[in-house]
Amino acid sequence: MKNRNILVTGGAGYIGSHTVILLIKSGYNIIIFDNFSNSSRESVKRVEKLVDTSITVVEGDIRKREDLQKVFISYKIDSVIHFAGLKAVGESVEKPLKYYDNNVYGTINLCQVMAEHDCKSIIFSSSATVYGDPKTTPIDESFSTSATNPYGKSKLFIEEILRDVYFSDTSWKIVLLRYFNPIGAHASGTIGEDPTGIPNNLMPFISQTAIGKRKYLSIFGNDYDTHDGTGVRDYIHVVDLAKGHVKALDKIHTFNKIMTINLGTGEGYSVLDVVKAFEKVTGKKVPYKIEARRAGDIATCYADPSYAKKVLDWKSEKTLEEMCADTWYWQSQNPNGYQSH
Ligand code: NAD
Ligand code: UD1
Repeated sequence: MKNRNILVTGGAGYIGSHTVILLIKSGYNIIIFDNFSNSSRESVKRVEKLVDTSITVVEGDIRKREDLQKVFISYKIDSVIHFAGLKAVGESVEKPLKYYDNNVYGTINLCQVMAEHDCKSIIFSSSATVYGDPKTTPIDESFSTSATNPYGKSKLFIEEILRDVYFSDTSWKIVLLRYFNPIGAHASGTIGEDPTGIPNNLMPFISQTAIGKRKYLSIFGNDYDTHDGTGVRDYIHVVDLAKGHVKALDKIHTFNKIMTINLGTGEGYSVLDVVKAFEKVTGKKVPYKIEARRAGDIATCYADPSYAKKVLDWKSEKTLEEMCADTWYWQSQNPNGYQSH
């Protein structure tokens, strides 16, 4: 089943770029489709260097039929890995229509063009955010879903749309991957997460504080019902996450139902655990201040990853220390992300 043509929407982005490396190493033919709204061509150049081969890149927007048509006419696409999407929670509250247009309409458009070209195989980037505020942890795939912001709702809506697509035509092969909190970077230090502006997420904020771009980390609350009062999450190395996609793609043709699968480690770490691990591994100080809780945050979120083990034969391997070390290597080699080059 190797040598298949795989369209990777959003393949120039953080998770996409790490996944493309492993897909190429596994023998898949990759076509990256990206509008570069949150990524740069530099990330693709660096991936090409790492895999020592050139990669087909199509600049286009999933909301534009003609952009997608061009790709599907030029290449016989066997499967799509669909990373393209906007992901900033705060911005989604300010600009909900932008998120529904890009994420939901873009996905509908993509699926329509796929169906026209008889390509009915898709792996979708969902998120643990669809579990809302879970009653208990660890969280398995049977937990109820809810979302409080347009970003999270866009993921829920897309999941529902893809379920309906499957029920209308069970020849579709669909995998919904629910990621927990991806962090870390490729061990080469040449590709990693490159957030625009002030980072919203914990790890990029920590690494930018350690390198002196930010004065201190604001810890959003230390009065949660957790072991040290700070929020607990399931941080997963982006390369482990990428491996989960390769496993899903290897097996997608064998599934006889729509699959919903958590990709997490099963371990919960608090904000202070992460700060301490980062300081220990890097020898850098991360000054912090305890501040008020962030609206919309929950106390604890971590996965039950046993279904992924069962159906994909996948489990995460990298430790929190490795995630911190790789993040720091990327950050210290590229203080301004891809812009410095
Ligand atoms: P990213 O922003 O680095 O990558 C997304 C890519 O999609 C970017 O290269 C961007 O330019 C591209 N893109 C966006 N809209 C597009 C459009 N209309 N047409 C074509 N390309 C478009 O984000 P990421 O962290 O790599 O996330 C990938 C996917 O995983 C997203 O769908 C995101 O919502 C989801 N996800 C991410 C996280 C996370 O913490 N990073 C967690 C859960 C789910
Ligand atoms: C956030 C998003 C979620 C998205 C996920 C991955 C919110 C409410 N949720 O999840 O929808 O899928 O990112 O992109 O934005 N923290 C600090 N200081 C900071 C940043 C974070 O203390 O400067 C804390 C948070 O309160 C939380 C933990 O660190 O306890 C992790 O935060 P973050 O990295 O933003 O991820 P999530 O909130 O889990």
